Amino acid sequence: MNKTIYFIANWKMNGNHNSIKEIERVFNFLKKNAIYKFKKIIFCPPVNLLSSFSEKIKSRLIDFGTQDISKINISNGPYTGQLSAKMLKETGANYVIIGHSEKRIIDEDFKTIKEKINIALKNKLKVIFCIGENLSQKNNGISLKVLKKQILSSLDKKKINFDNLIIAYEPIWSIGTGIVPSNSYLDKIYRNLKKFLKEKYKVNKPIMIYGGSVTTDNVATLREISLISGFLIGGASLKSASFIKIIKNYFR
Ligand code: 13P
Repeated sequence: MNKTIYFIANWKMNGNHNSIKEIERVFNFLKKNAIYKFKKIIFCPPVNLLSSFSEKIKSRLIDFGTQDISKINISNGPYTGQLSAKMLKETGANYVIIGHSEKRIIDEDFKTIKEKINIALKNKLKVIFCIGENLSQKNNGISLKVLKKQILSSLDKKKINFDNLIIAYEPIWSIGTGIVPSNSYLDKIYRNLKKFLKEKYKVNKPIMIYGGSVTTDNVATLREISLISGFLIGGASLKSASFIKIIKNYFR
């Protein structure tokens, strides 16, 4: 297997200045274990920690990302409370999470997500674009319909370079619940998404990852879905021990 596998830590609203230790432990593990070469490790801590962490860990082994950017399409200006894509790029981030269900609930509608994705790509940030259905949508059998709508309303056919876009399928009913979809459910979702992206965007190999209650125990099962190229990990990414074990168990 020689495709890149992504392990992306979404720390959400967690962590403090001492948490650098967790990243340092992951870094030391990666340094000692060159066998894990087909992987990409990305940490997305809260923005207050980003600069100092990326300053301290300057290495090609670990990349950094943010959990948001402003939808205001300029670098600087009179916009209280906003951080521009350019400013975030300057913190050392190369990635940004956009469209996370926890953010959609607060203030990201379809239009905002589309604007943010275009701004991020224009500023040379790679986008981790999250999509996912909720439990009632799943129970009503409309998961794929929901996912396709999220994609079509956010990805501008003329502007998206799929080399710089990672699609993270995160079923909302799986986030933080300990419930992970069955492999047959996931297989159907990813196959359909791949077909849909090919039809609508002419992309042959979209980068698609999975997020939602990924743990040291279930990562080996999730690995069986060949269209999944990695994981967006919440809770289990906060401690280096579990994050490292997820990587190890994946490659075992
Ligand atoms: P958990 O891994 O804690 O379920 O969170 C998943 C997630 O939302 C990652 O973005």
